[in-house]
Amino acid sequence: MIKLLDFGCGGGCLSFAISDRFPDVSVTGVDIDDAVLVEPKRKVRKTSAKNLTFLTQTSEHLNESLIETFDIIIMNDVMHDLPDPVSILKQLKNILKPEGYLVTFDPDLHSNHRDNAGDIKVASRYLTSLFVCLPRSLSREPAAGLGMGWGYEKKIQFLEDQGFSVVNIDKDDKNDIPREMVVVKIRS
Ligand SMILES: C[S@@+](CC[C@H](N)C(=O)[O-])C[C@H]1O[C@@H](n2cnc3c(N)ncnc32)[C@H](O)[C@@H]1O
Repeated sequence: MIKLLDFGCGGGCLSFAISDRFPDVSVTGVDIDDAVLVEPKRKVRKTSAKNLTFLTQTSEHLNESLIETFDIIIMNDVMHDLPDPVSILKQLKNILKPEGYLVTFDPDLHSNHRDNAGDIKVASRYLTSLFVCLPRSLSREPAAGLGMGWGYEKKIQFLEDQGFSVVNIDKDDKNDIPREMVVVKIRS
């Protein structure tokens, strides 16, 4: 059975959608915020979904008991919010199977703000990031201070620095892959 981790699952929309669509995939949604998981945990109990679990993340969920457990780890709108991305990526690398995929979704902004000039969509994202994402990423030590303005190019460099390589799942369609989604594998 394929095991998928939805890291930073929040209210669990994606976890529910994947578990519904792929009943043969075991989905675990994890979030550091206990309050945000109350409703998804209640909904799982109500529906008795067999392939879906929600966990409040504590350090032991990313420790050695889960080493090389997951085939796929998804981070939807999470990475650019992290105050401690280096430590999180190190832990996720440990619990990802060596052949597994880490799939990250973050807004598609260029890292150099000059390259975003004139794009009205990006302007509103900078504003949201200033009041939401950036404070989150500054909220704890080591306070990486990323936010959406971190951007695509720096994110790719960061993932490579952490020992991952970018992969194109469907080589025929590589030009169609939206830059919001980056898929990486552990570099062998
Ligand atoms: C912008 S929300 C995205 C939620 C969800 N992935 C979605 O797309 O709806 C970011 C989530 O990441 C969670 N998060 C931040 N740091 C985390 C950490 N170190 N471990 C687990 N979850 C974390 C937050 O609590 C929050 O629910």
